[in-house]
Amino acid sequence: MTDAAKLSLGSKQLDYPVMSGTIGPDVIDIRKLYAQTDAFTYDPGFTSTASCQSTLTYIDGDQGVLLHRGYPIGELAEQSSFMEVSYLLLNGELPSKQELENFSTTITRHTMVHEQLATFFRGFRRDAHPMAILCGVVGALSAFYHDSTDIHDPAQRVIASHRLIAKMPTIAAMAYKYSVGQPFLYPDNSLSYTGNFLRMTFGVPAEPYIVNPVIEKALDRIFILHADHEQNASTSTVRLAGSSGANPFACIAAGIACLWGPAHGGANEAALNMLREIGTPDRIPEYIARAKDKNDPFRLMGFGHRVYKNYDPRATVMQKTVREVFAELKVTDPLFDVALQLEEIALNDPYFVEKKLFPNVDFYSGVILSAIGFPTSMFTVLFALARTVGWVAQWNEMITDPDQKIGRPRQLYTGPTQRSYVPVTER
Ligand code: SDX
Repeated sequence: MTDAAKLSLGSKQLDYPVMSGTIGPDVIDIRKLYAQTDAFTYDPGFTSTASCQSTLTYIDGDQGVLLHRGYPIGELAEQSSFMEVSYLLLNGELPSKQELENFSTTITRHTMVHEQLATFFRGFRRDAHPMAILCGVVGALSAFYHDSTDIHDPAQRVIASHRLIAKMPTIAAMAYKYSVGQPFLYPDNSLSYTGNFLRMTFGVPAEPYIVNPVIEKALDRIFILHADHEQNASTSTVRLAGSSGANPFACIAAGIACLWGPAHGGANEAALNMLREIGTPDRIPEYIARAKDKNDPFRLMGFGHRVYKNYDPRATVMQKTVREVFAELKVTDPLFDVALQLEEIALNDPYFVEKKLFPNVDFYSGVILSAIGFPTSMFTVLFALARTVGWVAQWNEMITDPDQKIGRPRQLYTGPTQRSYVPVTER
């Protein structure tokens, strides 16, 4: 670690402290830069900017490493559960058996939503995109749960966190049921977090719903893969909204809105739509050529990542899970073959190799979710369901960080210099 970064600007020679984390890149502390130089840094997209200190998740994009509180995503995906990973993200350590039981019971006891919220759904058209519904309904939660919106009260922060994690599956299932014209199902507290979601989504009041344990495990693992991911766009949105003191429900609604974008969490829906558009392996070269064409805005959805310049470790687990789900359901899907061949061709194409474009977490998730029975429009809803625990954990970390203040970036102004108003009669 070097002890200072030296900046020479005009006649000024300035030193800025260099801070080191436990692992990963050092940071140059430039908090005094503007006061000392009257200049800003310029970093659109924040490709070289650390917005905060965090202990939650570490990513090494070159090595394809993803750690949650130090535990590798591959080990968590194979050996843990979404409830246990949720506890880990919120509390920093893996729970004892009793701690996990208590946490799961607490979350289970918050899965019901205010009965009036069901009426809230009636305002949407039946063909509303489930992400539009999720944005609206989660934002409205602050109108139903006033007793957990005081962000300075640690007890209220805990209750709001548990309510958001617990109610997201219920609201997500309700969004699906509303879109298909079926009645909402209440949570069943005898089921696991993920089993409860499967039943609320695919069950009907007319008959019992038996949770398939292989599907339950596969979906629980998919939730683990999506739980948190450092300072990605939607997490940064939640932190920025929270920095103004907005209530947690409004902050998570902001994160959902950001996640919806096809460059971010909306990529899983876009990736499956792309595979459907390609249709058959013989059309892959045409789309590879389009992805490489600077004049064509088409990009391979599910490929590339701001941080991973090696393989996204979540995509590895996701591809393995596809094979498990297909074997269990005794299904095949020609789109999976298209996905495998597209990956193979892209990974051997100089353009993708040079630009370090590999499949990301969104590339395979659509194939699995489609096989389980989710419509494409629900894919990003499931991403938001799982990412809620990451957003909530990051929001709590931000609120309690003594370094944090309201986020307020500056700009490089390139507009007109001052000029006088001209009355319309003289223009
Ligand atoms: C998620 O940040 C996170 O952690 C996000 C996430 C999480 O868990 O929160 O991991 C989830 O959002 C995964 C990413 C899902 N998005 C997609 O799959 C959409 C397709 N991918 C891209 O749009 C793109 O790769 C991004 C947005 C993911 C990353 O873009 P960057 O880092 O800003 O890089 P870039 O857009 O500047 O691209 C660098 C170059 C460009 O070419 P040049 O201008 O240098 O010539 O690579 C090219 C791009 O044109 N490129 C692609 C490409 N992605 C980048 N070319 C073809 N197909 C692609 N998918």
